[in-house]
Amino acid sequence: MFDTYDNIVILTGSGISAESGIETFRASDGLWAQHHIDDIATLDGYRKDPDLVYSFYNQRFNQLSAPSIQPNDAHIALAELQRDFSGSVTIVTQNIDNLHERGGANNIIHMHGELVKARCEKTLKLFPYKELSKSLKCPCCKKAGNLRPHIVWFNEMPLFMNDIYKALSNADLFIAIGTSGSVYPAADFVNEANRACAHTIEINLDSTHISENFREHRIGQATEEVRELVDELLSRDRQFF
Ligand code: OAD
Repeated sequence: MFDTYDNIVILTGSGISAESGIETFRASDGLWAQHHIDDIATLDGYRKDPDLVYSFYNQRFNQLSAPSIQPNDAHIALAELQRDFSGSVTIVTQNIDNLHERGGANNIIHMHGELVKARCEKTLKLFPYKELSKSLKCPCCKKAGNLRPHIVWFNEMPLFMNDIYKALSNADLFIAIGTSGSVYPAADFVNEANRACAHTIEINLDSTHISENFREHRIGQATEEVRELVDELLSRDRQFF
């Protein structure tokens, strides 16, 4: 690692929330082993059977609201880094859960959307909801059936891409945590960071499709590896500031 950094960009994936009790996507018992992507994570699937899609996201919403699901030490450590680090810390997540925010982090860039919000298809306004259904009336256009989950589905453009590429072009440290590198454009962020000459660290239980693009690898549980890395970054930062 270099001695100090000014601009840290962090990409998180479902692995960071696994120890909080939320399934990842591509584990052998993960979400995509239990559900067909075309049915519940595409616009076509939604048009064909909105009830099925609503029911899938209502289940995810209820799971996230259960008292047993809490931010873990990896979420909390990243929030501490964001609060105490002298430079900038940008957290981009592919996760639709709100565990970063509940762990104390701010300004999270949810590139794949957010489970706790519904979007009006006509006005694109976002609303909190308790249960999605065909009969739920949209607060802005007062019509039922206009609210869809605020989730980026397959073949849709992820959100905030300009902000993300800008942050990556200024990054001197890029850290990817708990993501398999299977989904683009997120899987390509490490290459963008390499182009900016950033140091790159991958934290994962295992090696991934894109491990070779990182300069440093930390293999282990996110709660342990993220905490250790954050402590290192903050203690180096304090030596210099
Ligand atoms: P995946 O399920 O593809 O990958 C999860 C990664 O987390 C794997 O590489 C695991 O090894 C790792 N992992 C699991 N538990 C961990 C732990 N405790 N500590 C550290 N690492 C751990 O999930 P994502 O990469 O997040 O997109 O998937 C990316 C996107 O694919 C998702 O945002 C979603 C999905 O389709 C959309 O729905 C648009």
